[in-house]
Amino acid sequence: MTETEPQFNQWYEENTEVDELLRDAEANEAERHDELSLRPQYLREYIGQTPLKDELSVYIAAAKQREEALDHVLLFGPPGLGKTTLAMIIANEMGVHIKTTSGPAIEKPGDLVALLNELEPGDILFIDEIHRMPTNIEEMMYSAMEDYFVDIMVGQGPTARAVHFPLPPFTLIGATTRPGMLSKPLRDRFGIINALQFYTPEELQHIVVRTADILHAPVKPEGAYEVALRSRGTPRIANRLLKRVRDFAQVQGKQAIDKEIVRVGLDKLRVDNRGLDETDHKFLDTMIAYYHGGPVGLNTIAANIGEEAETLESMVEPYLLQIGFLQRTPRGRVVTQAAYEHLGVPYQEELS
Ligand SMILES: Nc1ncnc2c1ncn2[C@@H]1O[C@H](COP(=O)(O)OP(=O)(O)OP(=O)(O)O)[C@@H](O)[C@H]1O
Ligand SMILES: [Mg+2]
Repeated sequence: MTETEPQFNQWYEENTEVDELLRDAEANEAERHDELSLRPQYLREYIGQTPLKDELSVYIAAAKQREEALDHVLLFGPPGLGKTTLAMIIANEMGVHIKTTSGPAIEKPGDLVALLNELEPGDILFIDEIHRMPTNIEEMMYSAMEDYFVDIMVGQGPTARAVHFPLPPFTLIGATTRPGMLSKPLRDRFGIINALQFYTPEELQHIVVRTADILHAPVKPEGAYEVALRSRGTPRIANRLLKRVRDFAQVQGKQAIDKEIVRVGLDKLRVDNRGLDETDHKFLDTMIAYYHGGPVGLNTIAANIGEEAETLESMVEPYLLQIGFLQRTPRGRVVTQAAYEHLGVPYQEELS
């Protein structure tokens, strides 16, 4: 790179804004300060996801023994299950720095070079919403991930030339709610690919008790369990509901959050006893009222209730599928008998 260095330096100054990229990420984090303080820092504090934790702890220990960077990790699953938390934990366990950004924030090659240039050997680059990375950036990632270099074009017209930019060994952790949108070449470059699963009520109860402890909000075990049952298998929702219920308990002068106050509070918030909220109800009600419970295409449902199909697919459907209220068939989505029973609507056999 010696001979092109002045040219490269000029290109670098014109094209990189790492401060902004990282500042963006930090600003977001600061806004979510609340969430940050609730985040477990080490694997042993991370509740649930046991098979994934067991696997990761082996890979982490092995990489540390060999004094190598951990292989690239792809984490996928619905929002709020703990992907970002896990990425931070991996950095802590490895004892390395983590730089956080998101797919859509990396707009041009200079952005990516700036981020990669921040990394020391073994460090982690965490890219949230990695499925939204622009295609040309994604293509640059291939050599970065596989052989630790990027080639960039510096200068314009006849003086343009490629500069080879070597990188330290690093770990890319990608997170996505939509693994299906990742291209095969990108997916294939991750050595460790794992899905996060919805949490069991017992695991969520454990998380609620832990959070209540951090918030100094006394909670009874049955109260925590009731919050857990209504949290759609999702820690972020459990923490949010706990905070709301704490308000109800406080205003009503309750010493501790018990089952009764959880029921009162969550009924007011229109979260039902399976954790379904208004969007879930709208989704199922629309399918039943207008399409005899399906089969009906996702786009049709989306148009009917005024939500994006993408939002429904990544945020609403996974839980309904998980609890067996919805089925995906080649002809479209179908509401199950269990959902009819839960909603108190007489079941209509599918018309054939
Ligand atoms: N296993 C866990 N144990 C305890 N708390 C957890 C766990 N997983 C997640 N949390 C809590 O849930 C919150 C949401 O987790 P996180 O932000 O990591 O989710 P995410 O999967 O990255 O979501 P998104 O897809 O929206 O980015 C965190 O603040 C954390 O406190
Ligand atoms: Mg996240």
